[in-house]
Amino acid sequence: MTLTSWSDKFIELDKTIHDRVSFDCGELELNHFIKTQALKHMKAGISRTMILPASSLLLNGKYPICSFYTIAPSSINRNTLPEGIAKKLPHYPIPVFLLAQLAVHKNEQSSGLGKITLIKALEYLYEINSHMRAFAIIVDCLNSNAEKFYLKFGFEKLYSNKGRVRLFIPMRKVAELFSSEG
Ligand SMILES: CC(C)(COP(=O)(O)OP(=O)(O)OC[C@H]1O[C@@H](n2cnc3c(N)ncnc32)[C@H](O)[C@@H]1OP(=O)(O)O)[C@@H](O)C(=O)NCCC(=O)NCCS
Repeated sequence: MTLTSWSDKFIELDKTIHDRVSFDCGELELNHFIKTQALKHMKAGISRTMILPASSLLLNGKYPICSFYTIAPSSINRNTLPEGIAKKLPHYPIPVFLLAQLAVHKNEQSSGLGKITLIKALEYLYEINSHMRAFAIIVDCLNSNAEKFYLKFGFEKLYSNKGRVRLFIPMRKVAELFSSEG
């Protein structure tokens, strides 16, 4: 079963119109997050979750979720960055954006939607960066598949912690991606 066609834009998760229950990306942790944590975290003011709905309704009157991403502000210690980059930065915590979650419904995987969702997340953070600067975007990979996915799009390895690999992409590199398009 596919979710028919995707809507044309990402919008903030809204439980009154989006069906969280039917979301399944094949990873329990991410399924649990979208079903039970994403809205709580938005209410608490600690992250924002943007979703791509399907273009047609379920029988319950809600739209299925094709994919989503969650972003939040964060910071890293400069010592975790490669030496060539670190030496140009202060010893204070370095502001970054955290790409906290990103997932595609399993029925829609391998159709390019992961790439679209990542590009939309980067574009969103690039826009925020024009108002409030951050040095880089970081992501903590759930597994080696996720790591391979992000490495493919220009993320670089920072370090491993408790079995998770942390990757980063400098905002300068993200800016090049979007400015070269125009
Ligand atoms: C990882 C995930 C987001 C990829 O989404 P997707 O829709 O299947 O990926 P796409 O079809 O957009 O693929 C985009 C590119 O990434 C590549 N890619 C996708 N998954 C990959 C993987 N596991 N390893 C290596 N490359 C991968 C594709 O080959 C494709 O390359 P191309 O542009 O050269 O053709 C999706 O599989 C998913 O939601 N997985 C479960 C949740 C998860 O692990 N999220 C990451 C949390 S940190």
